[in-house]
Amino acid sequence: MHFFDYKNRKLYCEGLPIEEIAQRVGTPFYLYSYHTLVRHFTVFNQAFDRIPHLVCYSVKANSNIALIRLFVGLGAGMDVVSGGELYRAINGGADPKKIVFSGVGKGNDEIEYALKSGILMFNVESSQELQAINDVAGRIGEKAPIGIRVNPDIDPKTHPYISTGLKKNKFGIDIRMAPKAYQLASELPNLQIIGIDCHIGSQLVEVEPIVEALRKLKRLVEELRKEGKEILYLDLGGGLGITYEDEEPPQPVEYASNILEEIKEFDCTLILEPGRVIVGNAGVLVTRVLYTKENEVKKFIIVDAGMNDLVRPSYYGSFHQILPVTQETREEIVADVVGPVCESSDFLARDRKIERLRPGDLVAVMSAGAYGFSMSTNYNSRRRVAEVLVRDDRMYVIRHRESYEDLIRGEEIPDFLVNPQE
Ligand code: LLP
Repeated sequence: MHFFDYKNRKLYCEGLPIEEIAQRVGTPFYLYSYHTLVRHFTVFNQAFDRIPHLVCYSVKANSNIALIRLFVGLGAGMDVVSGGELYRAINGGADPKKIVFSGVGKGNDEIEYALKSGILMFNVESSQELQAINDVAGRIGEKAPIGIRVNPDIDPKTHPYISTGLKKNKFGIDIRMAPKAYQLASELPNLQIIGIDCHIGSQLVEVEPIVEALRKLKRLVEELRKEGKEILYLDLGGGLGITYEDEEPPQPVEYASNILEEIKEFDCTLILEPGRVIVGNAGVLVTRVLYTKENEVKKFIIVDAGMNDLVRPSYYGSFHQILPVTQETREEIVADVVGPVCESSDFLARDRKIERLRPGDLVAVMSAGAYGFSMSTNYNSRRRVAEVLVRDDRMYVIRHRESYEDLIRGEEIPDFLVNPQE
């Protein structure tokens, strides 16, 4: 469900024609629909209403502070994986008491920052990390609330790059070794055990692997409780998939009811860390056709957005629908939609059935709200693009296009290169 629709052959975001936005901000740019974001978050959150729960939006999916603020206003907590994301969450107005900090490689500076901020819980991914958190907490006179991220060894049946809950993945502590890790945590003086966590992967289109993981976690929690360890929070991570092409992931309500069925009468607060399902279909990347060309074997549509702006197609082979911003009667061709970056892997679509677009035409690359801007880079010294939020018929630039000055900010030419004779 989203509010990007054609009216009179023009593609709109809510009440604004995308063409008009492009005229005002230039291309390429990311465009988000406020009402879609609100709806996605609300539907997801309400689906769990029957039990105590906290939805911690996964900041990595889209970390713009305007979006963070929007979700905070709807009661969201945040799932962060770096000091930078924590900084964003706090600047977006998030309540630190609703922030969970995941990730396999937390540095001491990040641990200290999180402790001083008073976050809800560290999701700890190794015994050495337990030790590190204990040490930092001791040094600054804090007690660190922790849960252990358990790796349940379950195949989430998704792209190998975004599977995280298999033994061969770097994430979490093997479920068989988790009791030992909890024992260590209970012996470390500056830690307070409060939870348990897992996240088995992203873009999940089946609910069974999640339910299976939950069952395994429940068994472990029962064991831990018998030993007197207090598990107040059970964090199931994120991962619910969306429709990019023809996938049919469970709706949030169905996903929730499977989880609720398993967890009812299990005395704890459920934490969820959705990212993609909240923002994925609420955003598009708008780009303009620069040129077209063809040879005997290929047709190319060259647009002004590249793999540095949206890396998913070249990195994961992901499919994103590409829609013309103005509907016309055009011949259908098969073409590669490519960007200006100097890499053969710089494409937004390959061998795609698409209308014969002409230079100057605008297209919207759909379902780009998650892992779009947040994975964008400055490769080829391309300036990162603007981000725009539309609410009804008003637009707000929530990130300005970078300038050339932004590109070299922080760089310095050493004196000996400026004055070689000295
Ligand atoms: N929690 C943890 C611990 C995670 O690692 C992730 C995603 C999430 C929550 C949110 O997952 P979601 O609900 O968005 O599926 N760049 C890839 C996706 C990487 C996901 C990484 N972890 C992509 O573009 O498909």
